[in-house]
Parts: sequence; C-alpha cells; structure tokens
Amino acid sequence: MVKVFINGYGNIGRRIATAFSKDKEIQFIGVGKYTVDDRVKDAVDRNFPLYVPANMVSKFKEKGFSISGNISNAIMESDIVIDAAKDGYGYENKVNLYEPLNKPAIFQGGEDNTGVKKVADVIHNSRVNYKDMFKKKYVIQGSCNVSGMGRILQPMIEKHGSEIERYDVTLIRRSADLEDLKEVKDSIEWDKNPHHQDDVKSFLPMVNLYVEAYKVPSRMMHLHQMTVRFKNAAPDKESFLDIYEKEFGVAILGNAKGTGDIRKKAIDLGFEHGDTNMVHIHSDTIRRQEDTLKLLYSDDQTGMVIPENYLLFQSMLYGRSARDAYSRTNAIFQIDRKRKTLEEEFKA
Ligand SMILES: NC(=O)c1ccc[n+]([C@@H]2O[C@H](COP(=O)([O-])OP(=O)(O)OC[C@H]3O[C@@H](n4cnc5c(N)ncnc54)[C@H](OP(=O)(O)O)[C@@H]3O)[C@@H](O)[C@H]2O)c1
Repeated sequence: MVKVFINGYGNIGRRIATAFSKDKEIQFIGVGKYTVDDRVKDAVDRNFPLYVPANMVSKFKEKGFSISGNISNAIMESDIVIDAAKDGYGYENKVNLYEPLNKPAIFQGGEDNTGVKKVADVIHNSRVNYKDMFKKKYVIQGSCNVSGMGRILQPMIEKHGSEIERYDVTLIRRSADLEDLKEVKDSIEWDKNPHHQDDVKSFLPMVNLYVEAYKVPSRMMHLHQMTVRFKNAAPDKESFLDIYEKEFGVAILGNAKGTGDIRKKAIDLGFEHGDTNMVHIHSDTIRRQEDTLKLLYSDDQTGMVIPENYLLFQSMLYGRSARDAYSRTNAIFQIDRKRKTLEEEFKA
C-alpha cells in the first residue's frame, strides 16, 4: 500500500485529506499542522492523525491535542508527500525535508516552476500532460485558475486549434475563500504580471494566449472571461458547446446569474466542502461575432484542484491510464453526478 502524508491543513490540505482518506488502496499517514487553532480540532474530529513540527509538539499537547508524531517522522514513513503549504513554503519544505529524506512530492499552484525558488520543472494539467507525470519526483499541480483554463482550452484546441489565432482571458478572481478569516478588502486590484499566463504556456506552449488578472471583493468563485479569435468565422454556439458535452469536470449551466448562485447551490445540495470541483460554462453568455467567440465560465477555486491532485497521484505513482484514473476520480468526487445535478438546477 502506498503511504501518503499531507503536509499542510488549510483550505486545500483539508480537502485533499478528505479525498485521499477515502481511497482504500492507500495508507493515509495523516496531516501536518503548524499552528494551534480551530483547524486542529477539525482534523481531530475527522480522525486524521496529526503531525506537527518537533519544536511544537509540547505546545499542541498542552492544549490537550493528541499528536501522532513530528512532521519529519511522518515524511520518513511516507512514500509520497502532498504539500499543501502556504504559497512559497513548499520550496523550504522541499529543501529542508523532502530532498534530504529522498521523498517525492506534489506541490500546489502557489509554488514556482522557474527561478531560485523553483520546486519542480513541470506543472500538471490532467487534460494535457497527465501521462507524462509517471515516475516524476516533483510536480506542481497547477493553480485553480491555471487548471480551469487548461480544462477549457485543451478540448477547444483539439477541435479547432489550427483555426484559432489568439486567446485572451481575463481572470476575475475572488479575494478570499469562504473559510478564510481575513477580511475582504473593498477594492478591485490588478496584477501587473499574472503568472497564470506563463503557467498555462508551460504545458500548452503553442497557444497564443494573453491573460489579465484582477481580484474583486468576493469569496465565492473565480470568473473567467475568454475571447477566442478565429482565422475565419467562429463556430456557432451549439457546435462550440458540443465540444464539452462529454468533458470531465465541465458543467454547462444555462441560467445562473453569478458565482454566488453556484456556490450557494453547491452548499444547499450538500456537496462536500461546498465544492463543485468543476468549471461551469455559462452558455447564456456565449456570443459570436464574425471571427470572434466570447464566453464566461466560473471556476471553483477551492474544489477544482483537488481531483487534479488525485489524478496526478494516479499518474505519478501508478502510471494508470487516464481512463482508469478518471473513473477512480469520479468514484471519489462524484463529478458526473454533481454535473448532472447542477445542469438540471441551472437549466436554460
Ligand atoms: N485556496 C485556494 O482556493 C487555492 C486553490 C488552488 C491552489 N491553492 C494553492 O494551494 C496552496 C495552499 O493554499 P491554501 O489556500 O490551502 O492556504 P491556507 O488555507 O493558508 O493553508 C496553508 C496551510 O499551510 C500550513 N503551513 C504553514 N507552514 C507550513 C509549512 N512549512 N509546511 C506545510 N504547511 C505549512 C498552514 O498551517 P497552519 O495553519 O497550521 O499554520 C496552513 O494549514 C497554495 O500554494 C495555494 O496557492 C489554493
């Protein structure tokens, strides 16, 4: 049995823990926690073995928490680590923990694939480079925006790639997640050099892609506005939507009014963690004008990357076929059922 440790128990770490702890084929070692706060109780309540830095063990024990060991020991015991640390901390973990102990790791989208703090050469997107991840030691799972763009772009490229001149995407990003305690600032903030463009180009190097990114005072979801410029006439709406009819993790919603509608519906429907784990094309926003097609799709920031981590794990560790990996991922996340339900709820 493959032994897995999740280092970090924040918004992403706790979701990864939920998913991986359901897989009966792996031995789930536990989760790493660095601060004594309410999330510790959450992990304890869910029976996740808790590991903390060696110099923090007594602090956690003083608060009455039962600790399974220190983080180095958990890593030593594991075959692979899923790093779910705060942006940038993954680099320190790699240098101080994973490399000295010779352990492979999956990193999250807040880490770098270039420059002095690079943790891996490659960014994974299940729809593009899934099978190339087999036996890689260090891989970054693309961020939510990057994963979402890949999920929309790749099927379009497969159908129309040679007919397309250029893709422009404006990312309208939520400022904080629903669970975050930090205040949402009343401001629209721009990003002078969004990393998302280079991240997508790292796995889709041939695309003529231009990305702008803004943050808006919302906690619900990201919204991407995509403009696709064709060499000749753009396809009509129906044939464009046909591309996504059977796409894993892409829902086609006909009458949502905004990102909050979808998030609230996911919570009301009892989806785990309130996640859809998908992108949602808003079919009523698709417009065609001569050579140009415009669309909006929303991207479940917290949920999107969790099945992607699980898929990446299937490739890295076992070299399973994409078909098998998607089927296992669907069993854990119930993506097809959620898609069907959402499409029914938001029918045109
Ligand atoms: N939030 C999203 O929607 C989202 C979506 C896609 C990708 N990501 C990426 O996922 C990663 C995690 O984001 P997040 O939103 O989950 O952040 P988060 O909620 O702030 O959680 C970060 C976690 O890192 C832990 N931590 C602190 N120092 C650490 C260390 N040295 N090693 C490991 N963990 C450490 C923190 O522990 P304590 O709380 O105990 O201090 C906390 O549990 C980032 O790279 C982010 O860019 C986030």
